[in-house]
Amino acid sequence: MNNFDENKEFVVRRPANTQNTGQNAGQAPQRPAPQRPPEGAARRIPPDGNRPAQPQRRPAPTGARPAATGSRPASRRPITNTAPPPRAPENRSPKKEKEPSQLLRNFLIFLGMLALLLILGFGIILSSLYTAPQRASDTYTVIYESGNDISPVVMNKVPYLNMSDLAETYGFTVSGSKACLRYTASKGEYVEFTVGSRSAKVNGDIVNMEGAALVRENESVWIPLAFAENYFEGLIFTRNEEKLTITLTRPESPESTPEEPKYVDITFRIKGTSSLPGIDEDPDWGDITNVEFINDLSEYEQYMNPADRDAYLILVNKTNLISAEDVPENLVSIKDVRKDGRKEQMVECAEKALEALFIELRSAGYTDVSVTSGYRSYNKQVSLFSTYLQREMANNPSLSEAQAKEIVLTYSAFPGTSEHQTGLCCDMHNLPSADVSFANKAAYTWLKENAHKFGFIIRFPEDKVDITGYSFEPWHYRFVGRYHATRIYKLGMCLEEYVEYLAKASN
Ligand code: DAL
Ligand code: ZN
Repeated sequence: MNNFDENKEFVVRRPANTQNTGQNAGQAPQRPAPQRPPEGAARRIPPDGNRPAQPQRRPAPTGARPAATGSRPASRRPITNTAPPPRAPENRSPKKEKEPSQLLRNFLIFLGMLALLLILGFGIILSSLYTAPQRASDTYTVIYESGNDISPVVMNKVPYLNMSDLAETYGFTVSGSKACLRYTASKGEYVEFTVGSRSAKVNGDIVNMEGAALVRENESVWIPLAFAENYFEGLIFTRNEEKLTITLTRPESPESTPEEPKYVDITFRIKGTSSLPGIDEDPDWGDITNVEFINDLSEYEQYMNPADRDAYLILVNKTNLISAEDVPENLVSIKDVRKDGRKEQMVECAEKALEALFIELRSAGYTDVSVTSGYRSYNKQVSLFSTYLQREMANNPSLSEAQAKEIVLTYSAFPGTSEHQTGLCCDMHNLPSADVSFANKAAYTWLKENAHKFGFIIRFPEDKVDITGYSFEPWHYRFVGRYHATRIYKLGMCLEEYVEYLAKASN
């Protein structure tokens, strides 16, 4: 990382056939032309090759030419090229016997000049490869080199963008501390990066990135490109894998005129989610704000159906990892503790919605359900996974560790892939331990039919094993808020399908 060169971070690499390179290539053979003497000079030379201005510098007729003559100005070099027409050897005077050495000398000078021109040519070509960054006000070209982890803009195989540069280009307001910087766009929406963390905040929601936010030597903040592609609405990212370029374009707004160009607003959010039709607009799905409960749950409405409805959609799974350092903010103790009294935690909004669920669940007669697992730290997941691995190997000693791991991976997430680390889910059931037989319990039937009203979904449904990669878990509930939970319930999707559905709907 330390060998990163800021000066080369954004390089506009001209394609081999661009005008610049072409000019350089074309110039080399033409360069000798200006070195020729004026035509008139050549014509002034008497037919015998004697130059009136220089006879005193010439050696004795038969002597070798002194070295000093080699330092004659280059412009005079071609004089010998304009030597008089060759005469028949037998007609040459003794003076003319000097011609071979003169030719040799001039040939050597010519070679020297040629070498000089070649060096100059190479210099021009090389300098053209390292031109200064080119940036128009609204189009920004970045080079990245896929798979090259020493490239300035690809770190640990993750393409990065210089966020400080983007902020300057697009006029984001920068605030916060050195360690935690917030970038606010014109409409007040913001993204926040903590240096060294893979979690970013988008208008208060925690979002995972492919890599950690980084600060380079000149104190600019670098963020994974994919994050910007997903969350910077109003900017179009065009990747050209052939030319290894990424072009950022900010489209003109409809009000734009040639005299007064205007550009669309840049906002920070999951692209397209705001443009989805609301479920409450669909007559078949009903009004999600008008859910009937046995109890008065009005004080819980703000949690079950949060105003920021997209804030809890984070997807953590086998391919969307969460970093070891990620700890959610606002973790609170779950009110409905385990029977063994162990305190479990969840993110506050999810926990409050869960309280409402338990109030209704009990009123419906299911009083023996409790939460057995909520937020789990990365280290907790390390220990849990290891316990399961040991158990599998003890139960079947013929298994290799790899085979045992394959089995464990069907029911327990490898550390860094468990959504328990988001604090947005919990396991609840009324069995001595989580077991698929919970699906046969009436309490499960109630949860299956009602959990979405409180903002929860069954995260690993029976018919989605191929997509989630986990066997059916009737005890594992994930908070996404009522709006999305109801849609997921009505559409019969798992979270992976739903997130993809949202992405497609936004295109
Ligand atoms: N049991 C789920 C997959 C987890 O470990 O997160
Ligand atoms: Zn679970």
